[in-house]
Amino acid sequence: MVMELLTSHASVRKYKDVQLSAEEVRDLIHAGQHAASSHFVQAYSVIHVTDTAKREKLAELSKNKRQFLSAGAILIFCADYARLEKAAAIHGKTINYSFAENLLVGSIDVALFAQNVAIAAESKGYGICYIGGVRNAPEEISELLGLPKGVAPMFAMSIGVPDEANEVKPRLPVEAIIHENSYDASKYDDLLPAYDQTMHDYYLHRGSNQKDTAWSQQMAEFLHEPKRTYMREFLKKRGFEMK
Ligand SMILES: Cc1cc2nc3c(=O)[nH]c(=O)nc-3n(C[C@H](O)[C@H](O)[C@H](O)COP(=O)(O)O)c2cc1C
Repeated sequence: MVMELLTSHASVRKYKDVQLSAEEVRDLIHAGQHAASSHFVQAYSVIHVTDTAKREKLAELSKNKRQFLSAGAILIFCADYARLEKAAAIHGKTINYSFAENLLVGSIDVALFAQNVAIAAESKGYGICYIGGVRNAPEEISELLGLPKGVAPMFAMSIGVPDEANEVKPRLPVEAIIHENSYDASKYDDLLPAYDQTMHDYYLHRGSNQKDTAWSQQMAEFLHEPKRTYMREFLKKRGFEMK
């Protein structure tokens, strides 16, 4: 059952006009919180954006209009060391989260938490989509949401009743991902062209947004140019100095 749910995931970007209740969102967050957490730091917070004006502003800033405006719930997932500062202050201590390791811990924690929320939502028949687009305007979004220092928005998630059904995207074959005992790059000479063929067929024939491309081509184009080059400075300002 869980295996079927996991392998049937497809992002949803268009929703029916049904809002999730505060209680439903709470239940999803509660399930999400049971994800494992590095050293049990629980270094994450989530902003449930219910205010229409804020949603409209987020839609504009993140350049993901349709999702932000049509979703049944919008959640902004943040790495959070501000609460840990408070916890340490109870004991008269300050904390140090100025190393790259701390940013990794916060990023991993928030991603595991979010993926649990995603699975919980999908198990209830909702669709979801992650929205990295919040990193298009991280400063403005942090200000809009009143995020204190030590808190950084990592991604958003739209959740709602699907108004579209996308095909499951074929993943890389398991053999491409799994290595036995040591990393074996030689297999990619055969595996990547074969996967490109699979993805080429998928892109050409899928229900919407068909295109004549392949996965390696998409990756080459996407990763050739630097992306969101302001993120390092932004994170440093938030207290994530990455020493
Ligand atoms: C961290 C993260 C950020 C993402 N950001 C966006 C986004 O800004 N806009 C969007 O439409 N999809 C976004 N996606 C969804 C991916 O495009 C999608 O998961 C991927 O193409 C695989 O498709 P699937 O989820 O339908 O299987 C994001 C996914 C992740 C994990």
